[in-house]
Amino acid sequence: MQEFLTLDDLSFAGKTVLLRADLNVPMKNGKVTDTERLQRLQPTMRDLSKAGAKIVILSHFGRPEGQPNAKYSLRPVADALADIYGQPVAFAEDCVGDMAKSAIQALQPGKVLVLENTRFHAGEEKNDPAFAKALSALGDVFVNDAFSAAHRAHASTEGLAHLLPAVAGRLMQAELEALNKALGQPQRPLAALVGGSKISTKLDLLNNLVSKVDVLVLGGGMANTFLAADGYAVGKSLYESNMLDTARSIAAQAKLRGCALVLPTDVIVASELKDGTPTERATIQNVPQDKMILDLGPDSAKAIVEKLSTCKTVVWNGPLGAFEILPFDRATVDVAKGVASLTQKGTILSVAGGGDTVAALSHAGIARQVSYLSTAGGAFLEWLEGKDLPGVAALRQAAQKAA
Ligand code: 3PG
Repeated sequence: MQEFLTLDDLSFAGKTVLLRADLNVPMKNGKVTDTERLQRLQPTMRDLSKAGAKIVILSHFGRPEGQPNAKYSLRPVADALADIYGQPVAFAEDCVGDMAKSAIQALQPGKVLVLENTRFHAGEEKNDPAFAKALSALGDVFVNDAFSAAHRAHASTEGLAHLLPAVAGRLMQAELEALNKALGQPQRPLAALVGGSKISTKLDLLNNLVSKVDVLVLGGGMANTFLAADGYAVGKSLYESNMLDTARSIAAQAKLRGCALVLPTDVIVASELKDGTPTERATIQNVPQDKMILDLGPDSAKAIVEKLSTCKTVVWNGPLGAFEILPFDRATVDVAKGVASLTQKGTILSVAGGGDTVAALSHAGIARQVSYLSTAGGAFLEWLEGKDLPGVAALRQAAQKAA
């Protein structure tokens, strides 16, 4: 039996489809500044439109805390979607009730309607059965294409999947297939690259990865904590002094499980984190007392790429240095180019995700050269932590029910 049903498993002709998308996109002065999540919806919209379904999009936007709030209206996002899709996209000012119903009635088969922010209703985040029922009354089928919101057990991501025939959209399907290839049934050796500033925010993730991967590469501020735990002086670097025992215990776990832990051997240091500030390279044995580590050094970046070239699968979350401030982007860019080149040669399958990671790989100019770049932030992290995401679990249950 298939774990999830997809668009291939149902007929959509003449149906009203409730399509849960993630329209939670960055916006400035009323304009969408990054359309990636909208672009990725196109395969699902195209297939449903071809099949002659009415496409009714449900999504949250921001955190309006259960109240209508013009600042979080989805109307400008619906306009941006229309531009990308090259077709008119209708909009209704509520996601339940008469306003939604009459907009759906007026919608032609094959056309698209965006309903207002689901989080304007308190029942959404509470996964209130009455609210889920009100949503379900609007359509015949539920298509979930919002992997990036699947870590939320909300009415439109979880509750609704129990009330209507429920299938994964093309984007959800692509995310799940890529993630399964990367951590579910990976080709080994399997490496994880984890960066970011703190161990404390990625504890579950590190504990899960150490038991699954063959190589764990650490960068960013969290590597400083591991170095300090190993007895190296890290000068004025950001590190978590209360996490030294935790770092030691993760390192001990890695050893026990045969997971090679890769830490920097050289680093780039400076007096302050500022654009154009003077920098120097130091080995980890000689980090100056009055300087801070802000990036990995060239030897470390080279060694990481060499190590990755012995692997078959690479999962990446988090930048390796303070990449937003130049020149502390160097190691992230060099390793990103290495990962892209190994991927293009076909020697590794690479999957990357998480908010900063997408920005870092885009900055390196290789966002489209990894095997799969997830659009998810928090959901990608929770998946790396080994958690069963409620939105995904609900789709699995729907498939079991339909079997
Ligand atoms: C995201 O942008 O990561 C998702 O849309 C989830 O948003 P949330 O953190 O507000 O639930």
